[in-house]
Amino acid sequence: ARTADSGSSGSPAPSSDAAFLADFHHVATIGATDSNGVDRQALTPEDRLTRDWMLGWAEGNGFEVRVDAIGNMFACLEFAPDAPFVLIGSHLDSQPLGGRFDGAYGVIAALFAALRIKENIAESGQIPRFNLAVVNWFNEEGGRFAPSIMGSSVYAGLFGLEEMLAVRDLEATSVAEALAAIGYNGNDTPPEAISYAEIHIEQGRILEREATNIGVVESSWYTQKLDIDVLGEQSHTGATAMADRHDALVAASKVVLAVAEVVDEFEDEALVSSVGQHVVEPNSPIVVPRRVHMVADLRSSDPAIVTAARDSLHRQIATIALEHDITIKVEDFDVRDKRHFPEAGVELAEKSVANEGLTIRRLETMAGHDSVAMNHRVPAVMMFVPSVDGVSHCEREFTTDEDMVRGLRVLTSVATELVGG
Ligand code: GLV
Ligand code: MN
Ligand code: MN
Ligand code: MN
Repeated sequence: ARTADSGSSGSPAPSSDAAFLADFHHVATIGATDSNGVDRQALTPEDRLTRDWMLGWAEGNGFEVRVDAIGNMFACLEFAPDAPFVLIGSHLDSQPLGGRFDGAYGVIAALFAALRIKENIAESGQIPRFNLAVVNWFNEEGGRFAPSIMGSSVYAGLFGLEEMLAVRDLEATSVAEALAAIGYNGNDTPPEAISYAEIHIEQGRILEREATNIGVVESSWYTQKLDIDVLGEQSHTGATAMADRHDALVAASKVVLAVAEVVDEFEDEALVSSVGQHVVEPNSPIVVPRRVHMVADLRSSDPAIVTAARDSLHRQIATIALEHDITIKVEDFDVRDKRHFPEAGVELAEKSVANEGLTIRRLETMAGHDSVAMNHRVPAVMMFVPSVDGVSHCEREFTTDEDMVRGLRVLTSVATELVGG
């Protein structure tokens, strides 16, 4: 019964692989872009439609849905009254012009894993030790509201609720206002977690290169961001003498190069760095820019390397500010410790993969995940399926149906063990 596939006629059985794939590909039509991606930043109308889809699916399949004050959605199955919950899930929001798989795969796989577990319990009549809930975490991506991994970090107690509700996007809309605007400003008490499991696309090319089915995460990288505000002086692009300019964009360009080149101070690939966001004010062809706001992202497996890179950048940016006679403010934020995932969870994933007749390897995650936040609160298990060409945060992101179905089987097996079935 566990993967009961459709019979010879009619629609596929509700928990079948075919139904899972149909629902996954349906959700990918919400906010679909011209080149096979999705654009569903947190709390946009597209995010609301995706949330509405999850709500309808969950209620239609006998789950009770709770929405907490930061907009996390929990689709709950209560088997054992008063027992805590095993949480499984990921996020339905995306980057701008993002891929279909990053996050959504993990939520939809978790819904189907939970449905299969519910069916197995109904069939066996054995009540598990713990309850089960599927989570859609609010704003994992952080493209619209920074920092990323927001909903799970509030749940895990790493970020303050009030502080996050007050965060504003570039249009000055707050999280609180945007939650209310799409009707997901909940006030339900979230289920109490005993453990957490997540499946996600790898977003790298290790599994593909090694032809391995599943990755299990042993530790997360040390990561931090720099909020950089370059404050020059606005003036006329024609009428201002070159010697009189305090061009924020010229200075900012040198900062971008410093961020890109700081990796050369370390061994190849020991540090990755980028400036992903860069906002120019007032952004007119005839105006020397007065301000550039940007966010730099530094990540390494070795915390000392990130710290050294940060110190180097602080020094270089001070020199650039002097050279251009302008002010550059730099603030460290969103610092995330390198953290190991519990060995017991890694071994549980390995056992489940072996039982399914698949292959697995251990790896580190350079990308951020809700599991990285949850791993501070409860034991967490993080698993990956292969990404074609290793690409992510772009429309070309791709994982095969076959790999998605394999990951669903493994997640079902891991979650079954966690609930104590
Ligand atoms: C977000 O997707 C991250 O990797 O931090
Ligand atoms: Mn993700
Ligand atoms: Mn992402
Ligand atoms: Mn991420």
